[in-house]
Amino acid sequence: MTYFKHESAYVDDGCEIGEGTKIWHFCHVQKGARIGRNCVFGQNVNVAGDVVIGNGVKVQNNVSIYTGTVIEDFVFLGPSCVLTNVTNPRSEVNRHSLYERTLIRRGASIGANATIVCGMTVGRYAFVAAGAVVAKDVPDYALMVGVPGRRVGWISRHGLPLKTPDVSGVYVCPESGLRYREIEPGTLRCVDLDEEATLPETMRRGRSTTTTSSTAAARHDGPKSIVTKNFAVIGVAGYVAPRHLRAIRETGNRLVAAVDPHDSVRILDRYSYEIRYFREIERFDRHLDKLRRGPEESRIHWVSVCSPNYLHDSHIRIFSEGFTELHTEVYRRTLAGSGFSIAEARPSVEFVHSIRAARK
Ligand SMILES: CC(C)(COP(=O)(O)OP(=O)(O)OC[C@H]1O[C@@H](n2cnc3c(N)ncnc32)[C@H](O)[C@@H]1OP(=O)(O)O)[C@@H](O)C(=O)NCCC(=O)NCCS
Repeated sequence: MTYFKHESAYVDDGCEIGEGTKIWHFCHVQKGARIGRNCVFGQNVNVAGDVVIGNGVKVQNNVSIYTGTVIEDFVFLGPSCVLTNVTNPRSEVNRHSLYERTLIRRGASIGANATIVCGMTVGRYAFVAAGAVVAKDVPDYALMVGVPGRRVGWISRHGLPLKTPDVSGVYVCPESGLRYREIEPGTLRCVDLDEEATLPETMRRGRSTTTTSSTAAARHDGPKSIVTKNFAVIGVAGYVAPRHLRAIRETGNRLVAAVDPHDSVRILDRYSYEIRYFREIERFDRHLDKLRRGPEESRIHWVSVCSPNYLHDSHIRIFSEGFTELHTEVYRRTLAGSGFSIAEARPSVEFVHSIRAARK
């Protein structure tokens, strides 16, 4: 026997288990399961029949891997995470022949207590946060948080959030230095290493966690990494200003809507493809109003106004009523004249700091 099995664990006949794999206390590997090399199964893990598991997979305590699940190489399954195989289970109705397939692709991590609804594919190196519920396919390198899980950003192969791309759209992992780029909206690829290539030996020893990396250290001085506030930007008097976009991103927030009668699309596209863009303020306002009535995670929390002047008076009035925070590069006199409370608006030099302060 080239693998290790603790005496309290059961491995049924007809299983394939690769060399160097360790199966710890109270595990049960059921008939027909195929497990690769150098995997580790913590305490109380159940691997159902016919499950396929690759090499170098780590499964923490109390995980059940059901029939229909395929786990590729180097996947990490956090403690008590849940994989499912029937969407509509009923005790009285037998659906044994209808098990749905769940695919966890190479290098993905599933956080503690997270749930993957069946039929989903979790992409390569994606990261599902602790407690998240994944009910949609997850792209490669996506960082998924919350219930329902939504992508709040990208994460590197080393598990560090990828914050701000440089001017050419390249993200650099603060730990490994590997570079990443969105090749199309919603698709990230590593520039330096093919997704299927093995990590070079020199890159295999972790040097930082998300809380010790330099970006994280900077973040903890100010804002945190995970997006929690949605922004809308108004660029009526000129164009949407890139410095606003940068400030929103650098403070870990998310831009979801923008209005500008001019052609800001190219500026916005360099930032993200996920922004709803409007040319008419009325349609923009209606959109925000719809979001305001929707769930908390899609609501606009803050509105940022680029280079305001008298053209903005009416918009500032509209938006000052509906939002807890309104950021402007304020011409104080203009705003005072518009009847808007300048105490709530902040000049651009304070823009980043004010977001940081408000997020504490
Ligand atoms: C998702 C994760 C990687 C984020 O790490 P991070 O970048 O260091 O995040 P931070 O601690 O800076 O938190 C940033 C924000 O996200 C929130 N957050 C962090 N983890 C979260 C989670 N799992 N679900 C929801 N929100 C989360 C924080 O409360 C914080 O919110 P705030 O900005 O409103 O204050 C991490 O929290 C996580 O879930 N890791 C999985 C741990 C795990 O399961 N390990 C298993 C092996 S023991």
